Amino acid sequence: MDCHDAVQLLGICGSLRNASYNRALLRASNDLAPAGVHVTTFDLAAVPPYDGDVEARSDPSRVSELKRSIQQSHGLLIATPEYNNGVSGVLKNAIDWASRPPVGSVLSGKPVAIMGASTGRGGTRKAQDQLRQALAFSRADIVTGANVAVAEAYAKFDEHGRLMDETSIRDLTALLEALVKTIALHVHACKAA
Ligand SMILES: Cc1cc2nc3c(=O)[nH]c(=O)nc-3n(C[C@H](O)[C@H](O)[C@H](O)COP(=O)(O)O)c2cc1C
Repeated sequence: MDCHDAVQLLGICGSLRNASYNRALLRASNDLAPAGVHVTTFDLAAVPPYDGDVEARSDPSRVSELKRSIQQSHGLLIATPEYNNGVSGVLKNAIDWASRPPVGSVLSGKPVAIMGASTGRGGTRKAQDQLRQALAFSRADIVTGANVAVAEAYAKFDEHGRLMDETSIRDLTALLEALVKTIALHVHACKAA
């Protein structure tokens, strides 16, 4: 990764539905991001199921695009739903592809911030724990110290999908700042090298 002044974040949403609260959380991130920080999103809909035989021949094109997008970003912002106390299948599948090869994958050392919104009371904490474990296996640099777990999401967004809840806005702002700080440490190390 080159050293740039502008910070490019790659947003990944673990829900495919259009009116997803997690997609809305990524949109809110774009609005709340500090100046000079840009969030683009990668749609997981066309990422095929992980298959080691397919991988042995070559990565499918959408998987190559996913890996390239991760590599070219300064950091990841992952919004996870919670399905049956865990990460959604599409998100786990994308992590599985991106984690390959196991040594030196695009996730290795990548700054990652995790957040999530659910209609339940836990606000995706269990899914976020699972996601942390999966990303730790690839030695991603997972941002700590700020938590965004939007519980009972139907009460936190307005009818246009705008995040209205003050606590969630404050938490999301803190998470974005923590991610940018983590990235700054990486860029500093890059410039020093
Ligand atoms: C298969 C499935 C399992 C779910 N399991 C949970 C759960 O374990 N905990 C929870 O809080 N919500 C659960 N929900 C409700 C989701 O939080 C809710 O559908 C949410 O809107 C999904 O995120 P999205 O809006 O980004 O699509 C589940 C929903 C589905 C479809």
